[in-house]
Amino acid sequence: MTHPDTILTGQVLSFTRSPFDGDPAGAAEVTEAVLMQGGRITATGSRARMQAMAPGAELQDQADALIMAGFVDAHVHYPQTAMIASWGKRLIDWLNSYTFPEEMKFKDATYATEIAGRYLDLTLANGTTTVCSYCTIHPESVDAFFTAAQTRGQRVFAGKTCMDRNAPEGLRDTAQSGYDDSKALLEKWHGVDRLSYAITPRFSPTSTPEQLAAMGALWSEHPDCLMQTHLSEQTDEIDWVRSLYPQARDYLDTYEAHGLLGARGLYGHAIYLEDRERDRLREVGGALIHCPTSNTFIGSGLFNTAARIAEGLRVGLATDTGGGSSFSMLRTMAAAYEIGQLTGTALHPAQLMWLATVGSAETLHMNGVIGNIQPGTEADVIAINLASTPAIAQRHAQADDLWEAIFPTIMMGDDRAIRQVWIAGRPVA
Ligand code: GUN
Ligand code: ZN
Repeated sequence: MTHPDTILTGQVLSFTRSPFDGDPAGAAEVTEAVLMQGGRITATGSRARMQAMAPGAELQDQADALIMAGFVDAHVHYPQTAMIASWGKRLIDWLNSYTFPEEMKFKDATYATEIAGRYLDLTLANGTTTVCSYCTIHPESVDAFFTAAQTRGQRVFAGKTCMDRNAPEGLRDTAQSGYDDSKALLEKWHGVDRLSYAITPRFSPTSTPEQLAAMGALWSEHPDCLMQTHLSEQTDEIDWVRSLYPQARDYLDTYEAHGLLGARGLYGHAIYLEDRERDRLREVGGALIHCPTSNTFIGSGLFNTAARIAEGLRVGLATDTGGGSSFSMLRTMAAAYEIGQLTGTALHPAQLMWLATVGSAETLHMNGVIGNIQPGTEADVIAINLASTPAIAQRHAQADDLWEAIFPTIMMGDDRAIRQVWIAGRPVA
């Protein structure tokens, strides 16, 4: 695939530091133009300087659009695309009533291929260029997802969801087959093009201790892989974990005791952590993934982003589609803002945008690779129209500074705000 040299002009946003360290408004800089060459960002600055650096590059004027890194969604379930917005249940009933029957369908490779393509098209239309996805227990669901992402040239993370108990017949593997299938998929896909395998035990209630240990063994054999799971999402779930693992000190200990706690671990939700769990996660550098639309939709609770980051924990942002009620990281940032208000901290627009890009990329250990516009990063870029609807446009017209101009789009924007998306420097049709 060829990567044409391209100069984009607009308001090019680059983070220069974390907006959680010091004044949030000063954590980013805006330049006039960005140069994309060979699939990477090579420079930002004035249009004249970019043209002097690359006289043959194609110039694309994006007017006053906000040009920034594509969104990074650190926790999704692509197989739940077709059952998003299913009514009326809390976590365990929601899994049994809606999620597991839908996931059963992925034994059919044709269906998996259809949904994988639909999911990536929907998320690209929403400006999301990288996701970290659960698949189903079926190896076909992993092949379908990686193939769809590979065709689109995307950087994605995904893994076979492992479950060997408390799931229906047809949706269970075993400790051994979960290990064997995961290993075969990891060897097939990890590091191919822009694809990475994530070891994926669903959560402690649906794995025996033997399966968690097998997943821990696989991770120790492939320590460069990410490991993703769920942690302390609902109080009923935590009680269930306590009864299933009576010897564990807490929920995190069910993972820690089986080799599933580490810096490359992604712990989804993590709303109700005890002090010991927070201390251990900080010590090892494991990442908490905040899924705000899911936490309100399934009625899970309020994750305190500002408090966790102030404690030194690493936090990423995610839709958790289809427990989450949107494919849009803009809607997800809005929900994070509202939950921030309910937990005592108004998150600054710079903090929200950072969480949806740099912050999530850091949880995936992809800092300097994706999630920011800076020389050397891969050119996964979006152009956002900051006046995409009449309601947003009239509020935007009153803005006095950059962040006030961006905030109405965060709070009220959706896929209509996404003007254009580039994957590795190539425009998405
Ligand atoms: N916990 C275990 N599985 C899931 C899932 O699919 N979605 C959510 N939100 N929580 C889970
Ligand atoms: Zn999830």
